[in-house]
Amino acid sequence: MQEKIHWHILGAGAIGSLWACYAYQNAVPATLILRSDSRLQAYRQAGGIMAKLGALALQLPVPVTSPSLITKPIEHILITTKAQQTLAAITAIEHQLAEKAVIVLLQNGLGIAEMLSQRYPQATLLQASTTEGAYRQSLFSLVHAGRGNTQLGQSKTLLAETQQTPLDHDELANIARSLSLGPLGMTVSDNIDDVLWQKLAVNCAINPLTVKYRCRNGELLDNPVALAELEAVVAEIAQFDASPEYPDLLATVRHVAANTALNRSSMLQDIEAGRPTEIAFISGYLCQLAEQHRIPVPMNRQLLDEIKRLSAANQH
Ligand SMILES: NC(=O)c1ccc[n+]([C@@H]2O[C@H](COP(=O)([O-])OP(=O)(O)OC[C@H]3O[C@@H](n4cnc5c(N)ncnc54)[C@H](OP(=O)(O)O)[C@@H]3O)[C@@H](O)[C@H]2O)c1
Repeated sequence: MQEKIHWHILGAGAIGSLWACYAYQNAVPATLILRSDSRLQAYRQAGGIMAKLGALALQLPVPVTSPSLITKPIEHILITTKAQQTLAAITAIEHQLAEKAVIVLLQNGLGIAEMLSQRYPQATLLQASTTEGAYRQSLFSLVHAGRGNTQLGQSKTLLAETQQTPLDHDELANIARSLSLGPLGMTVSDNIDDVLWQKLAVNCAINPLTVKYRCRNGELLDNPVALAELEAVVAEIAQFDASPEYPDLLATVRHVAANTALNRSSMLQDIEAGRPTEIAFISGYLCQLAEQHRIPVPMNRQLLDEIKRLSAANQH
């Protein structure tokens, strides 16, 4: 019988705790890496993660560690920090990252994978995108709020730019299976670049506009001014070679806004809570790519500047 993969999960927030809790429930070996020894102490006092998983409310003593306590090389790591937190988080544990580690990036935003592949050229870098919904009520209190799906793949764009070894479908399927923790499913996408691009478009359109109009996702579709701006954002993104045609991309974005109509986007929540946002890896990534390819994206640029301005005002 094949040995179970032991996953380390970096980023003990909503998504990291979600995977850690279901790993615990499915008796799959996984260790959540907390950011510090003092966090570890707080976790021990809390006695585990208080998790609302569907109808169940459970106290789960999921295995945890901290950067200073990791003694064995990490072979498989699932990264679930926010994009802007990733480099600091991985730097803290890189002394124990195996040279040929399998790194799965499960987060929104783009640009981090390129940075990691330059920094860890021997590692196998995979990317995942999820529509599961989770949030924390407090530090170690998790709510699995909405069921979704999760796709995993290896970026062909990144493979072309680096010396990474491509994995075949069976190898990817094996990794996806090891991170499929009932009821969380993870499937292999043969075109993760496409999945990530569409997610980027959704995030560029919905997140900053919900901040600008201080509204829920669905309200963007009811407000004609916001809707015109949403369409302009999408039309700009549709100019890139990587993008589907404008009507298809717009249909995807509208579909997500309608399906998550009552949600307050994570960016709106971050701004309102005075936390840093992922904007640099969403609209910021897009504007940087646009500059390289000389593609005009004035609406995206305007929203990027607006969110940066609000974030800076938050920090003071
Ligand atoms: N939540 C969702 O429903 C959802 C759905 C789809 C995609 N996503 C994406 O998934 C990613 C994670 O989102 P999330 O909602 O889980 O965010 P989150 O709750 O803020 O979790 C991020 C975690 O990373 C930890 N962290 C930050 N810096 C660290 C460091 N230096 N060392 C170790 N840990 C560090 C944070 O620690 P602290 O505990 O100290 O804050 C926090 O626990 C984001 O890209 C998000 O956009 C989320």
